[in-house]
Amino acid sequence: MDARQSSRMELNTDAGRARQQVRQCLAAGEPIGVLTGAGMSVESGIAAFRGGDHGLWSRFDPARLASPEGFAADPDLVWAWYLWRMAAIRAARPNAGHLALARLAGSHPDVAIATQNVDDLHERAGTRGVIHLHGDIFALRCADCGAPAQPVALPSPAAEPPLRRTPPRCAACNGHVRPGVVWFGEALPGDAWAAAQAMAQRCALLLVVGTSGLVHPAAALPAMARDHGAYVIEINPEPTALSAAAHQCLRAAAAEALPLLLPDGPPA
Ligand code: OAD
Repeated sequence: MDARQSSRMELNTDAGRARQQVRQCLAAGEPIGVLTGAGMSVESGIAAFRGGDHGLWSRFDPARLASPEGFAADPDLVWAWYLWRMAAIRAARPNAGHLALARLAGSHPDVAIATQNVDDLHERAGTRGVIHLHGDIFALRCADCGAPAQPVALPSPAAEPPLRRTPPRCAACNGHVRPGVVWFGEALPGDAWAAAQAMAQRCALLLVVGTSGLVHPAAALPAMARDHGAYVIEINPEPTALSAAAHQCLRAAAAEALPLLLPDGPPA
């Protein structure tokens, strides 16, 4: 047996144990929670922020691109970067992991999915009521008065962002339009954070998928769920800051592990 076959067997065994937990919850009608991060969308072609050599924050500076101060200092630089990301997201398709979660949410009345992702791939896979902890990149608004702004025409997806693009102006106050994401130093949307905490405090099982667990307060949710009695399963190819809070860790990509774990997946 080569190394690949042996790690595949290990995954099948681990996924079997995890599948048992999911089945028990489904049979008992117990609440299931899911917390997803950037790794969830990697197999859709959207780069994560950290991990490996390809994380966005290894080549781009989050202080300049993901903070209100960075936007105020250089709106054209920041707007160009988010236009580039919006174009990549619009061109991406939900992967097998998004689809497996959508099937779960559609087949069990008590599933809550909280995501740190600002993309809409869970929704495009068919999941309704996703809790967006870090906002929605397409929900443009004025950086000054907060008024919602019209959608913009997106460029073609590209390997690299353009250096500068001038953001549109707000129709109400002439301020700069910004993406609807939560930047460093900003508060999470209160209703989303309340819903995610409620999820963590009542779920019997929490799946933690594709997050490094380095950004708070979202990173506090797995320990919160465990403290409230949930069984916690991490799905991530790499160990993370959250692994210690998990009862079980599946070292695999989301698009591979979730269909193995959840009902109606392909036969193992
Ligand atoms: P990170 O980029 O910090 O972490 C991504 C995680 O996904 C890493 O632990 C990888 O090992 C893992 N990963 C990579 N490929 C994977 C795959 N195919 N399947 C499963 N996991 C995989 O992403 P987040 O934890 O979501 O903030 O980052 C949190 C926040 O930091 C983001 O929401 C973003 C960023 O700054 C905002 O946009 C406001």
